[in-house]
Amino acid sequence: MTPAAPLDAADELAGFAAAFSKPPGVYLDGNSLGLLCHAAEASLREAVEAWRTLAIRGWTEGAEPWFGMARAAAVRLAPLLGCEPADVMVGNSTTVNLHQILATFRGPERPFVVIDGTHFPTDRYAVESNLRLTGGTPDEHLIVVPPEPDRLLDEERLVLEVAEHPCLAVLPSVVYTTGQLLDMKLVTGAVGGTLVAWDCSHSAGVVPHRFRDDGIDLAFGCGYKYLNGGPGAAAWLYVHPRLRDRLPGLAGWFGSAPARQFEMAAAFHPAADAGRFGIGTPHVFSLAPLLGALRVLGDAGIDRIRAKSVAQTRFLLDYGRERLGRFGVGVVTPDDPARRGGHVTFTHPDAAKLSRALRARGVVPDFRPPDMLRFAPAPLYTSFAECQAAVDTLETILSDNAHHELADADDLVT
Ligand SMILES: Cc1ncc(COP(=O)(O)O)c(C=O)c1O
Repeated sequence: MTPAAPLDAADELAGFAAAFSKPPGVYLDGNSLGLLCHAAEASLREAVEAWRTLAIRGWTEGAEPWFGMARAAAVRLAPLLGCEPADVMVGNSTTVNLHQILATFRGPERPFVVIDGTHFPTDRYAVESNLRLTGGTPDEHLIVVPPEPDRLLDEERLVLEVAEHPCLAVLPSVVYTTGQLLDMKLVTGAVGGTLVAWDCSHSAGVVPHRFRDDGIDLAFGCGYKYLNGGPGAAAWLYVHPRLRDRLPGLAGWFGSAPARQFEMAAAFHPAADAGRFGIGTPHVFSLAPLLGALRVLGDAGIDRIRAKSVAQTRFLLDYGRERLGRFGVGVVTPDDPARRGGHVTFTHPDAAKLSRALRARGVVPDFRPPDMLRFAPAPLYTSFAECQAAVDTLETILSDNAHHELADADDLVT
């Protein structure tokens, strides 16, 4: 019996894989782009059909009127985030939602922004442009907290920096490189008076959140990773109810109270809920598949998803160390499940070539510079056998030195 077999035999979520269209091979890139599920395809088709048959009436008629789609998505997303639908706006892109948070909540009382040194680039670009737009400078007002020598962030150090500066901090729930899961409650609660906005792109849909119970101020994230909404899917933004009366920094007519939007008034009448942080016409074809995909996530339940995810990352860490350690493959992802998100990151000086060699053999991980190889099992459609196959394939490549045959590539998306 293979090491993965008993784990697959006991897997309560195994049946969900049939709800997805899986390309051949082993797909471990669901933290970059989740796979298409049949429900997402059906809800996208429904939206196209409404366009074909109802035209403009699609906004208000049909099975899922477009006008209410963002709210319907918020209803399905809220249980994954541990909040009420009224706390969530689904729409825009992740980057635009961060701009919205910065434009709405930073203000003169918070001249500084604290970010971590492991940030995803778009977060820093957005923060720096917001500083420039508001008369600040990145040199003076941006505080970057570096990771420790083991590449992980130290929450205590983040708290100290946040405490020292009147700021809005922008931090990751799960670090996209290392897979480290931060203690959001601890960091948010440690410093009164500051606000922390969490980029939850790498946790939503795979790690359960308790935003309301944990007193989380602000959060935002992608719809196309573990939420499986499809390439460029609508993103989301969460605002704690105690902050919700702020007028949006970036206002637009799709932030209006729905009943008043078509008065076409000069005055902005914001929605009472987080819908006020919407801006323009929703991207219906980027919202529709998300609706179907969220139904599947809801059926599986986020706690069961997390339990399987923790077991899969545990398996990858243990089996990976056992089979790959002798080839100089290291691990940067924390062993403690409470500090681990949904993916495992191995390190090797030839990580870029190893990623390409794996893809050539039908295993899809991804590479992040300078030396990281990310394996992201998606509990809804990845089996333990596939996790094992990925490690076995990597072991074969390393023992045959097959990656040395590859020419150096210019592209970093490997
Ligand atoms: C942590 C994180 N934030 C933001 C983004 C991207 O934002 P957007 O959807 O606006 O491109 C990504 C994309 O991979 C991400 O990993």
